[in-house]
Amino acid sequence: MIKKPINVILDGDPGHDDAIAWVVAKASSDFNILACTAVNGNCSAAKAAYNSQRICALIGLDVPIAKGQDKPLVIESLKAPTNIHGESGLDGPELPLPKRELEDLTAVELMIKVLEEAKEKVTIVATGPLTNVGALLLVRPDLKEKIHQISIMGGGIKHGNWTAAAEFNILIDPDSADIVFGSGLPILMSGLDVTEKALVTPKDVEKIKKIDNPVADIVWQWLEFFYQFHVSIGYPGAPIHDLCAVLALNHPEIFTMQKMYVEVETASEYCKGATIGDINNIAGKKPNATVLMDVDREKFIEYMIEAIKSYSEGN
Ligand code: RIB
Ligand code: CA
Repeated sequence: MIKKPINVILDGDPGHDDAIAWVVAKASSDFNILACTAVNGNCSAAKAAYNSQRICALIGLDVPIAKGQDKPLVIESLKAPTNIHGESGLDGPELPLPKRELEDLTAVELMIKVLEEAKEKVTIVATGPLTNVGALLLVRPDLKEKIHQISIMGGGIKHGNWTAAAEFNILIDPDSADIVFGSGLPILMSGLDVTEKALVTPKDVEKIKKIDNPVADIVWQWLEFFYQFHVSIGYPGAPIHDLCAVLALNHPEIFTMQKMYVEVETASEYCKGATIGDINNIAGKKPNATVLMDVDREKFIEYMIEAIKSYSEGN
């Protein structure tokens, strides 16, 4: 049976792992990418938008791109240190210049336009802070009926990575995350429990170096850049966090998932941004999220490499 492509809006803060997630999504006939929206997170929204334009130029993705607002919904934005993604937010290899201007719309306005025009439901793949998605749900709750599900990279049931309790994407804008988890829409959550197992090792990078196409040439350099920071803080490889939010949609079989009720802490001095998952259903509340808890790393890498190779066939 031929699978119908999943209509998606890619919302992110590229960012090396966002960029790799977009590379893989574009390569797959499982996805019909309708738009890209940039959000403040790894870098400013303006830099994320510029990086989005250049990624789209690299992979031949000709879709509308729009910049999100410059700050989170309520709190001031934390500034991501430049040693993870670099000053530009996507340091490393030189990328092609943009082939398409940004839309004369904000990210939320573009999301609204895409959803209003969509003939079928759309999945939002959010791999940065949830500022754009939260704002969309606030201003146009009527458009929920056009959203099939929201696949996010964010949070962590067992731990954080920016504080002991909170993961970066959620901590940057916990109020927007709270809106998303409270929206009643199906949420697919790729948190640190799974993404820190989605590691790319130097051996995997060597395989990508051997692929002869312009996208592979860029991806292995992104991976080497991203790997340097993570090895310096004790990771055995580069966690390609954001790619989980894409592969969870077209290859759910490589993940272990668990439905649970997840709440976002928005006020605590020590735990702001924590995603508290009722993994044992103590409160007896109806689950509001499907949380990824484990991944077959070998298959994860296999699908990433398969996607990168497809750019040799003129993808
Ligand atoms: O905590 C990991 C997340 O923060 C990833 O989405 C990465 O791109 C950064 O945005
Ligand atoms: Ca990201």
